[in-house]
Parts: sequence; C-alpha cells; structure tokens
Amino acid sequence: MAVLVTGGAGFIGSHTVDLLVENGIEVVVVDDLSSGKPENLEHDVLLYKLDIRSGEVRRCFVEHEIDAVLHLAAQVSVEKSLREPKIDMEINLGGTLNLLELCRKYDVEKFVFASSVAVYGEPKYLPVNERHELSPLSPYGCSKLASEFYLKLYSKLYGLHTVSLRYANVYGPRQRDDEEGGVVAIFLRRALLDEPLVIYGDGNQTRDFVFVRDVARANLLALEKNVKSGEFNIATSRETSINRLVEILERVLGKNLKLVHERPRKEIRRSCYDFSLAKRELGWEPTVDLEEGIKLTLQWFRKLLNLNTTKSNAG
Ligand SMILES: NC(=O)c1ccc[n+]([C@@H]2O[C@H](COP(=O)([O-])OP(=O)(O)OC[C@H]3O[C@@H](n4cnc5c(N)ncnc54)[C@H](O)[C@@H]3O)[C@@H](O)[C@H]2O)c1
Repeated sequence: MAVLVTGGAGFIGSHTVDLLVENGIEVVVVDDLSSGKPENLEHDVLLYKLDIRSGEVRRCFVEHEIDAVLHLAAQVSVEKSLREPKIDMEINLGGTLNLLELCRKYDVEKFVFASSVAVYGEPKYLPVNERHELSPLSPYGCSKLASEFYLKLYSKLYGLHTVSLRYANVYGPRQRDDEEGGVVAIFLRRALLDEPLVIYGDGNQTRDFVFVRDVARANLLALEKNVKSGEFNIATSRETSINRLVEILERVLGKNLKLVHERPRKEIRRSCYDFSLAKRELGWEPTVDLEEGIKLTLQWFRKLLNLNTTKSNAG
C-alpha cells in the first residue's frame, strides 16, 4: 500500500509519516513547506514540494500507485482565515477538491481528511459528540466543514471511502511555538526561557488536549479500518483549564512560572469532545495523558533550544 500524505512535513503530518513508515507502509509526501520543514521528516521518504492546489500534484499519482490519501496540508490559522477568508477557502477547500478529483481519476480507494472540532462552533452541551449541530465560527471552520461535505459526496457518487477526523487541540513535539502555534508549545517555550506566560481573561477557559502521537495513530487506524464514510472526533473527552495547564507545567518544570493576565479574547469558553464513536468504529482511544505528553514535549523543546543556542554560539 502506498499512501500520499499531504502536509507530511508539518507537525501532525510528520508524526504520521513516522508511524506509517514504522508500519512498513510506502509513503509519498506533498508539502509546499510554507510552514512544514524537511528536517521534520526523520525517514527517507519522497517529498514533492508542491502546492495542493496545483495541477502538478497529478505527478504523484502518475509516478506512484497511490492506494490512499491522508490529507493534512492546510491553511491552519483561524485568525488568518478571518483576515483572508478567500485564501483559506482556496487552500482548504480548493486544495481538498483538487485531491478528491485526482483520487477519482486515479482510482484511489481511501481518503482520510484532517478536519477539526472547529466545525461545531460554540458547544451546546459537553462533551460534544458527532451529532452536535455544525455551526462554525470562522472561515477556517467553514472550509473544513465544506470539505467534509465534498468527501461525503465523493463517497456517494464515486464510492471513494472517506473519513474525516475532527481533531481537538493537538500538542506535542515539533509544534510551532509562534503566535500561530498551540498554547502548550507557546507556554513551554516561554517557560523554558523564563518569559511570562500570557493568560487571556481568568484562565478558567478549557480545552481538550490530545497528544500528537495519539492523533497519528488515529490517522493510521482510519486508513486501515474498513469504514466507507464517516466523521469522528479525535479527542480525550477531558476538559483542562488554562490555569490547570499552568499548574501541570509548574509541576513538570519544578518551578513557579511568571504569569501576565490580559483582557479575555473572543473564544470558546469550554471545550471537550466525545471520542466514543472513534473507539467503537476505529478502535481508537487516547493513550497519553496530558502530564506525560507535556513531559515528552518538554524533552523535545529542551533539545531544540539547546540546538539553537549551540548554533547561534557557533555563528
Ligand atoms: N494542530 C491542531 O491542533 C489541529 C487541530 C485540528 C485540525 N488540525 C488540522 O491538522 C492538519 C495539520 O495541521 P498541523 O497542526 O500539523 O499544522 P502544520 O502547519 O504543521 O501542517 C500543515 C502542513 O501543510 C503544509 N501546507 C500548507 N499549505 C499548503 C499548500 N497550499 N500546499 C501544500 N502544503 C501546504 C505546510 O507546509 C505544513 O507542513 C491541518 O489540516 C489542520 O487544519 C490541526
């Protein structure tokens, strides 16, 4: 089986590529390296530096017998989608449609899509399950939801097996720690550099944090399981407040952290997602708890920051 992984040089994509290769699966990566990095690819896999919107992507299907596509490449920033909705739509929906069309033309069997819990919008109840109303609050959420609909349509019209995985807040090694990165990565970097952590509002807002290797395993299971079409939450069903996250970081790092409180942002107050459908249909459940995942992420950040120090000293 050969799998085309779009966005394979990115955060979640590269962990997924690692897992696929470790399972003896042939992998081809498409990534324009706009945020992904070739050094994220630990294994020797073929990388096509292409934009998913481009007609050139066809080459991957001509040059390899692709059985399945794992589609992770995306414009990933909610804020950017609000500033530039058209670009978000072109990459996230246009890119997905380009790939679906190639799957149709080249008889690909399966398409697994990195969707997001952003498709739900403000939770009406917790934990949110897949029957919850779909009411995105951003162009990013809209383009993910519209892509899910196209997947379902391609399943109905052409028999392509399609799975949309709605990831919650993913964290772990290789995550970006700039303003577009995740809160765990941003906090860890600032904590290691003795910089203050910025908390918006009272810090009681909650998130559902899922470790990146658990997400990679969900991607692999979605490829392997005989599911014809479906949407699944990939989450932990655990609510963790930002204040609790700080407590865990303080325990793991063994020091008190400097905090700065700023005005609340417009954001969802509580978030927590039910993964029981993924457990039943895909045999997936999270295995790494937040404290353990933070320790693993911390090890990676320590190495990264030391590496950077060595490089800048040398230069
Ligand atoms: N990180 C999260 O918490 C989270 C949550 C829900 C959904 N997701 C989804 O998971 C997927 C992976 O996200 P990530 O967190 O690993 O982000 P990431 O930025 O690390 O990965 C995205 C990858 O796609 C590539 N890319 C972007 N635009 C491209 C284009 N036009 N053509 C080709 N490649 C392109 C980037 O270079 C990058 O390698 C995305 O679809 C994202 O929307 C992520």
